[in-house]
Formats: sequence, C-alpha cells, structure tokens
Amino acid sequence: MTELLEETATPQGTSLPEHIAIIMDGNGRWATERGVSRVRGHSQGGEAFRGLVEACRTRPFIKYLTLYAFSIENWKRPADEVDDLMNLLRHYMKREAATMNENNVRMRFIGQFDNLAPDIRRDLAEVEELTKNNTRLTVTMAVSYGARQEIRHAMQQIAEKISRNEIAPDAIDETMIAAHLRTADIPDPDLIIRTGGEQRLSNFLLWQSAYTELYFDKVLWPDYLPENLDQAIASFSRRERRFGKRNA
Ligand code: IPE
Ligand code: IPE
Ligand code: MG
Repeated sequence: MTELLEETATPQGTSLPEHIAIIMDGNGRWATERGVSRVRGHSQGGEAFRGLVEACRTRPFIKYLTLYAFSIENWKRPADEVDDLMNLLRHYMKREAATMNENNVRMRFIGQFDNLAPDIRRDLAEVEELTKNNTRLTVTMAVSYGARQEIRHAMQQIAEKISRNEIAPDAIDETMIAAHLRTADIPDPDLIIRTGGEQRLSNFLLWQSAYTELYFDKVLWPDYLPENLDQAIASFSRRERRFGKRNA
C-alpha cells in the first residue's frame, strides 16, 4: 500500500520526461480474457490510444509521444489479423485527424511504408501535412516499423553519399547516423513504457534508447489509463540518470 501511494505521488522536481515512448502491447490477451475476438482487443486499444494522447496533451511537460502501433515482424501474423489492424489504422486516422489538429497536435509516422497499402500511405501523408505546423505535442506513430531496418536504411543512405564522394568514411559520427534515422528531428526518448508485462523492446528504437529509462507495466494496453501513465512518470522522477558519469 505504501508503495502504491508512493507510486501515485505527483511527480516533482526537475526530472520529468519530455519524450515518452510506449510499446502498446496486450490487446490479444485482453480479448482472450473476455472471450471476444482479437480485433475487439485492437479496437479497444485504439480507444486507449485516444485517451493517452489526451492525457499527454494535458501534461504540459510532455512534448513528444512515440507509439509502437505495428512492428515490421507483425506482418507475419495471420492475414485476417493484419487486415483488421490495417482497417483500424484507416478508421482511426480518419476519425482522429481533425481532433488532433484542433488540439494543436502534430502527427508523424515512422516505419517502412513500402509494405503499406497505397490508400493508407496517402492517409498518413495527409495527416502529417494537415498537422505539420502544430506545436503543443508531437505524436509519432511507428507503423511497419523495425529499429534494425531503420538502422540498415540509414547505413545505406550514408554508403550512397560515400560512393558519390559527398562524405568521407571517417566523417561518420553518431550525430550523422542519428540524422539518417527516421526519428532525425525528434529527441531520444526519456522513458519507454511497455504494457502487457513482457520485458523486451521487440525491435523498437534500438539506437535511440541507449540511455532511455525503461518501465514495464503489467496492465494490458486496452485497460491503460492516465493514472498508469502518472505511475510511470513518478517512477521516472525518482530515478537518477547518470549517463555513465558519477553522481553530482
Ligand atoms: C499489441 O497487442 C498490438 C500489436 C502488436 C499490433 P498484441 O496483439 O501483441 O497483444 P498480445 O501480446 O497478443 O496480448
Ligand atoms: C510489439 O508487440 C509490437 C507492438 C506493440 C506494436 P509484439 O506483441 O509484436 O511483440 P512480441 O512478439 O511479444 O515481442
Ligand atoms: Mg503482443
């Protein structure tokens, strides 16, 4: 009980996360527990996504929210589940775009988009365009995303520049690599939350998470509430990030 009180205490001090990333996991188990179809779990997950964006928007210290919606490995799921997920993506983007825009939220998408249906690619590009000048919160959705594929793509881009004699191999540094990732214009995440109880990154933001604080929550994604977010933030606030140095 004491631990619970401590966990839910209002975060204080200077260490609040500016960039939170979330691995939204547990939709399938949520559905199985209720004896409903997996697609019901995914659509309930979509509702949790809406609630989360609103919770982040109303916590002014959060400037960036990055969400893992569909991994490149998720293409290996049965075709009907993949279809259901793609249809939900279509539905939510159409439904949420105007609200996001009214709320001054900028939407971005990262991933390997050549696998996505042309209409979805067009929808995502339209939402990005519509919201590009918004400043309150940047929401980045990782769709058909894999961190290793992102790093490989960056390597190819750099190699091409070398073959065109635009850069020398010894000019490659960490800043240059980061600048060729799809996340080039957003800072590294301060905090990665994974719901659903698994304790792994599943190919999410591997380069960017070198010094990210990790928080694993047993709650299944469709049940995720603002108070779960506040618990993760409170845990973050109590940690000391040393980045390899000695504490002050
Ligand atoms: C997360 O929920 C959503 C996606 C990966 C697309 P899951 O579908 O992985 O749910 P579990 O892990 O099977 O419960
Ligand atoms: C990670 O969840 C991907 C998303 C939440 C979008 P998975 O359910 O696909 O991950 P694994 O298979 O448990 O590692
Ligand atoms: Mg899962």
